[in-house]
Amino acid sequence: MEKLTGKKKIRVAVFISGRGTNFKSLIKFSNKKNSLIKIVLLITNNKNAEGIYFAKKNKIKISYINYINKIKAEREILISLKQYNINLICLAGFMKILSKRIINIYKGKILNIHPSLLPKYKGLNTHKRVIKNREKFTGCTVHLVNSRLDSGKIIIQKKIKVFKNDDENSLSKRVLKIENLIYPKAIKKFISTNP
Ligand code: GAR
Repeated sequence: MEKLTGKKKIRVAVFISGRGTNFKSLIKFSNKKNSLIKIVLLITNNKNAEGIYFAKKNKIKISYINYINKIKAEREILISLKQYNINLICLAGFMKILSKRIINIYKGKILNIHPSLLPKYKGLNTHKRVIKNREKFTGCTVHLVNSRLDSGKIIIQKKIKVFKNDDENSLSKRVLKIENLIYPKAIKKFISTNP
């Protein structure tokens, strides 16, 4: 992959499967004056993802990928990424696991946000498990994607308290709020440390 820094804006593709609040926060960051990034493409495996609305509103190209056949799906993803000259991928609630092939092609250029203090609570249902285990703290993490699930180098992590009366719903809401805050910060940090 080519270097990220330079005069041109970094062309970003965001991958989502649903609601898209992190996508929305990244769009806000991208729309800022003098922003280092430009979100040019939304990739989704879900035709009904609510987050598609934010792409339409901001005139971001949308690529819907049918995942019935993963090999075919990833071939289409690679075509889209090439077509739009993407140099950074941000996974934001994308509920599919990328294969080693894509990860290798975009090595060091794929970020993900995860709703836990990694390496704790990789995978799904993080908040449920945090509550069940009576953890005192939880949080969220932006990390580089490698071929092992939720295991790449951590860029930014933010910790919050778990309250005694928290349930899965209240906790996920509070964590989501800080996710929306740290993802742009993580991109800034990532770019500045990745000449
Ligand atoms: C976020 O909580 C994100 O961390 C999580 O999905 C949610 C998407 O919310 N991602 C994962 O669990 C990935 N393993 P959003 O669509 O509102 O951004």
